[in-house]
Amino acid sequence: MKVEIVTLFPRFFDSIFGQSILQRACDAGFLEIVVHDLREYTTDKHHQADDYRFGGGAGMLMKPDPFFSVLEKITRTTSKRPLIVFPTPQGRPFRQTDAIELSREHHLIFLCGHYKGIDQRVIERWVDKEYSLGDYVLTGGELASAVIVDAAARMIPGVLGDFDSARGDSFYEGMLDGPHYTRPEVVDGRGIPSILMTGHHKNIERWRLSVSQFLTKRRRPDLKK
Ligand code: ADE
Repeated sequence: MKVEIVTLFPRFFDSIFGQSILQRACDAGFLEIVVHDLREYTTDKHHQADDYRFGGGAGMLMKPDPFFSVLEKITRTTSKRPLIVFPTPQGRPFRQTDAIELSREHHLIFLCGHYKGIDQRVIERWVDKEYSLGDYVLTGGELASAVIVDAAARMIPGVLGDFDSARGDSFYEGMLDGPHYTRPEVVDGRGIPSILMTGHHKNIERWRLSVSQFLTKRRRPDLKK
């Protein structure tokens, strides 16, 4: 999957995509990341990417023309139109099912907004998906884009060493994951649930499911199950 990111802060992504599973995904050819510096597409001598809002009010808005320029340039050379994603607090909540859907795309473009966001005409002309990460406002779209790329990339078959482990993740089956334990058997005087020591896999599975159901009902009654 090719992922292109349009941002005013290209260096932001160096450490995120230069480490761990995402770096390995890039090295193994599952993922290709291209970061575009929006500033390079500004046309005035101060390279200004933002401007006042028509109608007034506090807070600047990202200008439309640099986005039009970069998106026209990217899409001019692609045979199939990439899917364009704009992370924004005004978007639909981003869920695991969206991560799975995005992981099946060949080419994604992320637009990183700042200040009061992006001129609406960019959204109308170009954006296919607007996602929110939650009911709070981040300083910019870079962090949100990185989160969405991470969640989608790990769902590409082959990216996770052990895909089976993802099946038990929170949200994969529509429920929260339960607690897990590793060695030593006693820490700080605390043991582990005795069922985990029985070696009875069917019963352990049943126990894990019931803990997941209990947690989901209690903490996330909005999740259906
Ligand atoms: N940009 C700023 N805040 C955001 C949020 N909550 N979700 C997605 N993108 C954002």
